[in-house]
Amino acid sequence: MYKIAIITVSDKGARGERIDESGPAIREMLYSLGEVVSYRVVPDEPDILKGSLINLSDVENVHLILTTGGTGLGPRDNTPEATLAVIDREVPGLAEAMRMESLKKTNRAMLSRAVAGMRRSTLIINLPGSVKAARECLEIILPALAHGLEILSGAGGECGLF
Ligand code: MTE
Repeated sequence: MYKIAIITVSDKGARGERIDESGPAIREMLYSLGEVVSYRVVPDEPDILKGSLINLSDVENVHLILTTGGTGLGPRDNTPEATLAVIDREVPGLAEAMRMESLKKTNRAMLSRAVAGMRRSTLIINLPGSVKAARECLEIILPALAHGLEILSGAGGECGLF
């Protein structure tokens, strides 16, 4: 079982002007992968998000951080930049798969700038912000995550079985 953190990135959510539904929605999907040990709502402030990502990785040692929101084209959509600033290496296939599969459902999928990558032994993945989009994207990548986390955490893993 892996330690998982969820960060909802939303100015309105952080101000208490909107109830976050996306964080709880993706939490429901993660029971078989691990335990959600941290859940927080932060504003679209790059430094605050960077601080949360670094703390969850370097201090809390979580295996997986899922962010939701802030991946679009709005002036306050800073999640990909904050993520890129703290990761050591990108894992582009995760974002590629989310966009490729999501495009079969909506052409608006191309408007998400989500990225994924590793900081130390933590995998960080951006999901878009709406409940629908976050669920759809997590559903696409979820089947590959256990194997990715197994390799990332140094537990080995047999790639040739599938
Ligand atoms: N991906 C999927 N699978 N389903 C969706 O409905 N919505 C898109 C896109 N990705 C969507 C999706 C839309 S409308 C936007 S604007 C972008 O994600 C960015 O969303 P965000 O700014 O909430 O992160």
